[in-house]
Amino acid sequence: MSTVTPRSLPDQASYLEGQFGLADRVVDDHALANSVARFAERNITLPTFAELADPTTIDAARVGDADPQGPDARNLWRNHWYNDVKGARVDVPDHIVLPKELTGVDSPIIVVFGDRFPMITAHKVLAAYACLAPRIVCGQFDPTAHRAIWPSTGNYARGGIAISRIMASRGVAILPEGMSQERFDWLNEWCENPADDVIRTVGTESNVKEIYDACNELAKDPTNVILNQFCEFGNHLAHYEVTGRALSHVFDTVAADRPGLRLAAFTSATGSAGTIAAGDRLKDTYGTKIVAVEALECPTLLENGYGEHNIQGIGDKHVPLIHNVMNTDVVVAVSDRATDQLQVMFNTDDGLGYLADRRLVPRSVLATLQHFGLSSICNVLAAISTAKLLGLGPDDAIITVATDGAAMYPSERDKITARDFGGGFTNLDAAAVWGEHLANVATAHAIECTEPVRNRIFNLGYYTWVEQQGTPIELFDARRSQSFWTGLRRFLGAWDGMIGEFNERVAAV
Ligand SMILES: Cc1ncc(COP(=O)(O)O)c(C=O)c1O
Repeated sequence: MSTVTPRSLPDQASYLEGQFGLADRVVDDHALANSVARFAERNITLPTFAELADPTTIDAARVGDADPQGPDARNLWRNHWYNDVKGARVDVPDHIVLPKELTGVDSPIIVVFGDRFPMITAHKVLAAYACLAPRIVCGQFDPTAHRAIWPSTGNYARGGIAISRIMASRGVAILPEGMSQERFDWLNEWCENPADDVIRTVGTESNVKEIYDACNELAKDPTNVILNQFCEFGNHLAHYEVTGRALSHVFDTVAADRPGLRLAAFTSATGSAGTIAAGDRLKDTYGTKIVAVEALECPTLLENGYGEHNIQGIGDKHVPLIHNVMNTDVVVAVSDRATDQLQVMFNTDDGLGYLADRRLVPRSVLATLQHFGLSSICNVLAAISTAKLLGLGPDDAIITVATDGAAMYPSERDKITARDFGGGFTNLDAAAVWGEHLANVATAHAIECTEPVRNRIFNLGYYTWVEQQGTPIELFDARRSQSFWTGLRRFLGAWDGMIGEFNERVAAV
């Protein structure tokens, strides 16, 4: 129970619309007219959330000859889970079912690949779109006058910059200076003026507070629009609808060949806590348990702890406003030593050779390991812990996502190899890494959430949001109730209607 006394709030609609991206009407006709003109000029149309959730409703020819990795507006029509690595449409999202030879548990662990998303090879471009598109059709963001500010630990900012560039609008990426070199290389290539438009905040993955500080500074200039994924409910809603449906489709496909299979759990390493919203849908459909995952070196949810870690993308030391904490069933912490070393093992000949020859992991599985970035490995290790914690068996599937692939981390692998393996990863190293990180995945850092545990985690968010960021207490507290989250879903239909009208206006120019 919260011990905070609610204050009255005079202008509820305007703070929900302004700070949290929850407008369902046109708030500025002039900004909207400018967007329509800019989009007509650049031939941009916007997909609805319903279309992204079910791309069979999108004409596959719509992307034409657009390079999936280029700044082409037609790539917005690829902003869904149904692409292969080359950007061609697939019937079922690309996935792999990890077998016991690799995971050591009977439960099939299904991993859905995020590096098929366009332009940034990570599913965070969906979150960026979800935060921006509603603001465009509501006239809250004017691409001819505003700068979009994209705070993140890397991939969301890249997604945002990609969309800003498509709109010929200025975007600013904010990310900690310690993120992987590949993220900065990408930003240098895509930003028109990286010296001004890439802001490096102090620290690494855990330093999200410093990102908020930079945003608050920039927010003093009214031409800057802060699209803060950690408190934009569009991020939650897009994953509920688009990712939730995609994961359902994958599970139903796998289950069609395995009668009796149930979807027992969904693991998601939380950064902004957007992706984990897919779990709300899976729970509604299958009774799936929702597992929030974090770094053991910074056990914010598990112990209200703090620290540094290298599981890039899962920023820490705070509970995002859009995390539906009271619907979370399990918390698992995974060590970055495991994700670091397995990242090397999965991407070296000796590592893969060991898995093939000594552990008999099928080659078809090994071929997919290049699509696992650091947080993807974290999600898998958490799934193994969950299977053990909950005593799951062969009929209990666990589903998760691989947000990005190993292509984002060659520089990290070099650092890890120098630090931990004397500059070269050998067969002996592979045996040791197997023994330490896969042979006996522990449950010591996994808890099932009782009501008091959920309350403890929920209440921790008070300090970030209400005390630090000035979030109205009524909104903060309302999130305790599931009716708040189910009530949000009406925005999806409202935004889709407005996106349809917007596209008609663009076509009529
Ligand atoms: C690589 C990676 N993994 C995991 C996440 C966490 O996803 P979410 O922000 O939806 O919780 C992110 C977020 O940026 C990420 O970039």
